[in-house]
Amino acid sequence: MYDNWDKFEEECLLCRKCELCNERTNVVIGTGNRNAEVLFIGEGPGENEDLQGKPFVGRAGQLLDKMLLAVDLDRNKNIYIANMVKCRPPKNRDPKPEEVACCIDWLRNQVLLMKPKIIVCLGRIAAARLIKEDIKITKEHGMFFEKNGVLMMPMLHPAAILRDPRRKPEAFNDFLILRDKINEICDHTY
Ligand code: URA
Repeated sequence: MYDNWDKFEEECLLCRKCELCNERTNVVIGTGNRNAEVLFIGEGPGENEDLQGKPFVGRAGQLLDKMLLAVDLDRNKNIYIANMVKCRPPKNRDPKPEEVACCIDWLRNQVLLMKPKIIVCLGRIAAARLIKEDIKITKEHGMFFEKNGVLMMPMLHPAAILRDPRRKPEAFNDFLILRDKINEICDHTY
């Protein structure tokens, strides 16, 4: 584990722990405020993210930004966004469990450096690995689960909302629940 961000990023950019390194353009480490109290974790980079080296910069990212802004959250100000895997799985397939296993120490290191109060898991892959294996994201999104003193909330993945826009209201409601929780337990997000 690295105890400062610069060293962490330097080493992470060199990672060759799994085969995803072979086809990547960029390692997508994460973006946002390193001192944020709220950490969002998605699945893995897609094509745009791989090309730009930043998470959630495609259509799903645009929707995510809109929902964030509606509750005064901004990736450039008061949150941090990362993914379960930092290199793009080919053809946007789900990351394999062994790829997630190879990558998880990087994420652990980020959590250690940030010490977030709330972690939002975007989609099933992140929620199942970080909250509980048998998570039912359609039923349990918007709920809080406590783990090691950190509140964890599963949310619908923005790409899933794009595929089924009827789910927008319930997805948005989770952001309102999140805002209430931030007001309750965070001291420098708002
Ligand atoms: N989907 C994700 O899960 N992460 C990204 O960075 C982009 C799309």
